[in-house]
Amino acid sequence: MGCGGFIGCHLLKAIFERTSWRVFGVDLESYRIQEHLANDRFEFLCADLADAAVVERIVRYPVVVNLAAICTPGRYMAEAAEVIRSNYDHPRALADACAKSGSWLIHFSTSEIYGKTAADSSALEEDSSEIVLGPVTASRWSYATAKLLTERYMAGLAGLNWTVVRPFNFVGPFMDFMPGVDGEGIPRVLANFSTALVRGESLKLVNGGVAKRCFTSVHDAVDFVFCLFAKADKGVGQAFNVGNVDNEVSIAELAGLMRSVFASVKGKPENDVPGVEVVSGEDYYGKGYDDSLRRLPSVAKAENLLGFMAKIPLKEAIEESLRWFVGHYVDAC
Ligand code: UGA
Repeated sequence: MGCGGFIGCHLLKAIFERTSWRVFGVDLESYRIQEHLANDRFEFLCADLADAAVVERIVRYPVVVNLAAICTPGRYMAEAAEVIRSNYDHPRALADACAKSGSWLIHFSTSEIYGKTAADSSALEEDSSEIVLGPVTASRWSYATAKLLTERYMAGLAGLNWTVVRPFNFVGPFMDFMPGVDGEGIPRVLANFSTALVRGESLKLVNGGVAKRCFTSVHDAVDFVFCLFAKADKGVGQAFNVGNVDNEVSIAELAGLMRSVFASVKGKPENDVPGVEVVSGEDYYGKGYDDSLRRLPSVAKAENLLGFMAKIPLKEAIEESLRWFVGHYVDAC
């Protein structure tokens, strides 16, 4: 489910390259997976989880990976109800169906379930960190609330074989969209800064760009899923952080790195690359925006149980992503 999205397209490619498995994939869009549509090991259905008949078809398979979600913060305020439907109602129905069929449900949740973390917060532990979500008026937390409730529902559902994956800011080719070209609104920071760079516009630092994130290559994320497939007995009934602690940067530092990588990709002096501009969160995203100031995962559980450790350095991940973005949107500028 969600095989045509950012993570899904990379996972699908890896499955076809590394295994001989057959895949039934469902998504509302397919432009990222065109190369696989004619593959006779792949059956693609253009649909979404709101359709109960689709859910019934999905759960005929022994392993179900759910990647479908509205997951761009730009939408958490104005479209909170839709965000909750996408991140709670639909996965809940899928979990119910998996519990009946016996399918193993690998559900992609979010690092955002850890909520409103402070600048000095320590590493977030899957099974012991306390969780503070902002007030209901801060509708930024609509997404985290829905995702967290889904996790709790799955963990409490009798008969369900579940695994929860909590991504920490995955980056790579095909992430999100370019506003006005193949999507509307504000994408996540990688796509937003990439768009600004190719359009020659300033990079917007929300509330000064002091928030920190651990950006993680999507290729590491795919490797995590294969570690999980290989050690299903250790992974069932567990939630896992998937992130790269060595890649922690502030958003202001990310902007600096992306400016310098872009200058080298384009063969320009850095002074000719757009600069940064500080904006307020509410002005930029709208009323109800709020933020996590630090999102540092503990990665010990994935290493100890599954033998997984993210490896790809930040600069390499950003360079791959920016080169792809510049090439992919070359005609859009
Ligand atoms: C989002 C989702 O809400 C998470 O669920 C998801 O797990 C996460 O992305 C992810 O990619 O893993 P967030 O990390 O806040 O959470 O996503 P971004 O929109 O990429 O923002 C990261 C930081 O950059 C925030 O502090 C934001 O205010 C800032 N930002 C974003 C800017 O300073 N400028 C921008 O143009 C965009």
